[in-house]
Amino acid sequence: MATRPNSLTHSTQNPRYLIIGNGRVARHFEHYFTLLRIPSQSWARKQNSVEELRELHLSSEVTLVLISDSEIEEFIKENSFLQTKAIVHFSGSVTTALAFGAHPLMTFTSSRYDLETYVRIPFICEKNTWSFEHLFPKLSNPHYLIEPNKKEFYHALCVLSGNFTTLLWQKLFNDFETELGLPPEAAALYLEKISTNLLNHPEHALTGPLVRKDIATLQKNIKSLEGDPFQDVYYAFVKTFSPELYKELL
Ligand SMILES: NC(=O)c1ccc[n+]([C@@H]2O[C@H](COP(=O)([O-])OP(=O)(O)OC[C@H]3O[C@@H](n4cnc5c(N)ncnc54)[C@H](OP(=O)(O)O)[C@@H]3O)[C@@H](O)[C@H]2O)c1
Repeated sequence: MATRPNSLTHSTQNPRYLIIGNGRVARHFEHYFTLLRIPSQSWARKQNSVEELRELHLSSEVTLVLISDSEIEEFIKENSFLQTKAIVHFSGSVTTALAFGAHPLMTFTSSRYDLETYVRIPFICEKNTWSFEHLFPKLSNPHYLIEPNKKEFYHALCVLSGNFTTLLWQKLFNDFETELGLPPEAAALYLEKISTNLLNHPEHALTGPLVRKDIATLQKNIKSLEGDPFQDVYYAFVKTFSPELYKELL
């Protein structure tokens, strides 16, 4: 196993960050750091040279490699001079001996957030030789530790709950409009209440034909989705929720 560059120490209480990449997350964190007046400089492959990367690295203490997951390890290996100082990546699923993993548990699109939102973003960090406090002494964000070997499972949970429900809601908004002639905002309060009920009383949040074990309604729902790829999704949810109910539907 390669030695962890993260066992290197830096002593400053106000480290200067080098942000690699100019995708959604890199831009969000440039903005967050600007709002907090945390010194940072940026490098992006389409705009800067490797020589510039070397120079920026010399004048920074912590490098944030905020690029596509599949490229993180290779990028650090290709630019091995980076390994003389602390390196952090923000991927929820990558684990590498070459960098400290700190996953901001949030969704980042192209729209920026306000400072109040940024400071609330929790970071899920790998149990490691480095600590969040040491790498980000100026950030008051909540942070939690997990075992590195649990990261893939952790990330699968995030994708299932965050990304997959987004697909379901996008389907509803789209089909409301195109199939039913309903404005998407007609579902806004429904979505809002599902979220608050989940946050306040997760164990009582589920309603509908699944909890009522209402076979007739489940059958009608499935029939109405004939020819729609989401029929398989419906079946999969019933099967996951209750294999017995699923058998009754077949
Ligand atoms: N988006 C989210 O909601 C979210 C949430 C939590 C964590 N993250 C994590 O944050 C990191 C960045 O994600 P993102 O959403 O910002 O991705 P993104 O918007 O797709 O941007 C990816 C960036 O990586 C750069 N890149 C890709 N391969 C590279 C290489 N070989 N060398 C240099 N730069 C390279 C791209 O540069 P080009 O423009 O030149 O292609 C682009 O700037 C990932 O680790 C991701 O898992 C994302």
